[in-house]
Amino acid sequence: MKVNKEKCIACGLCVNDCPARCIRLKDNKATIINKICIECGHCIAICPKFAVTTDEDKMKEVIPYKKETFHIEPENLLNSIKFRRSIRQFKDQEVETEKIEKIIEAGRFTQTARNNQDVSYLVIRKEIDKLRLLVMESLYHMGQHILENLTPENMSHKRYAKMWVDVYEAYQKDSNIEDIIYYQAPALILVLSPTPINGGLASTNMELMTNALGLGTFYSGFTVRAAQNNQKIREFLGLKEEEQIITCMAIGYPKVNYLRTVPRNDAKVTWL
Ligand SMILES: Cc1cc2nc3c(=O)[nH]c(=O)nc-3n(C[C@H](O)[C@H](O)[C@H](O)COP(=O)(O)O)c2cc1C
Repeated sequence: MKVNKEKCIACGLCVNDCPARCIRLKDNKATIINKICIECGHCIAICPKFAVTTDEDKMKEVIPYKKETFHIEPENLLNSIKFRRSIRQFKDQEVETEKIEKIIEAGRFTQTARNNQDVSYLVIRKEIDKLRLLVMESLYHMGQHILENLTPENMSHKRYAKMWVDVYEAYQKDSNIEDIIYYQAPALILVLSPTPINGGLASTNMELMTNALGLGTFYSGFTVRAAQNNQKIREFLGLKEEEQIITCMAIGYPKVNYLRTVPRNDAKVTWL
């Protein structure tokens, strides 16, 4: 982070807003202690004189606030959250690379703890069939294990376990059976991170972006579950040791139109 001393008017806005407390006013100019800076960019965003910058390359993507293109009416935002649905019926239509990139952009700009920016993305289009089979195989073994070791505690898993076993056995006889893993979605984005909250937050914004682009998605929890401790899947995906699959977003053009929102339980809220 650099301060242009000629532009700096020592207003102190960056000093007060810096979460790492690494900006001081020295000789009536803002001075940044870069060693402890977490590069969150608040100083760049808040400066009325645009006196704070960082590497030239990174600065190219900084855009000024404009109400017309940045503001979202609260009612519209809430409605779009209420109207969002998990999509499990997709058109036989590819998802454009530019749209996938836009979705990832929404993830990239999502906040991370300590501004670690430790979320990465794995896009799968050509290899979906191979991944689906590996996931089905893994779930089959997990299902078998659950069914062979049923206890009162894991009874609630019985239904899924039976489904995983049945589906894999049916697939062995006929590989054209209904795809209950990805519902024929043409693209997957795996959101990877060593920090679950960071990957989860990125995924939520990515889902909103997916919908805004006229696409639909659902989270494949089955994939996340199947990949847990499964070396074959991890190797197939080329995951590094510290990388965890936080979500798997199955994405495509929806073949369904929803006409209204759905009911939800009341929020459990305590006010203190
Ligand atoms: C973490 C997570 C994992 C999920 N895994 C699956 C899945 O493997 N397969 C599936 O069809 N839906 C999956 N879903 C979708 C949920 O079933 C869905 O969000 C829920 O039924 C509510 O429906 P809605 O998303 O349309 O509001 C998952 C959702 C979440 C949040």
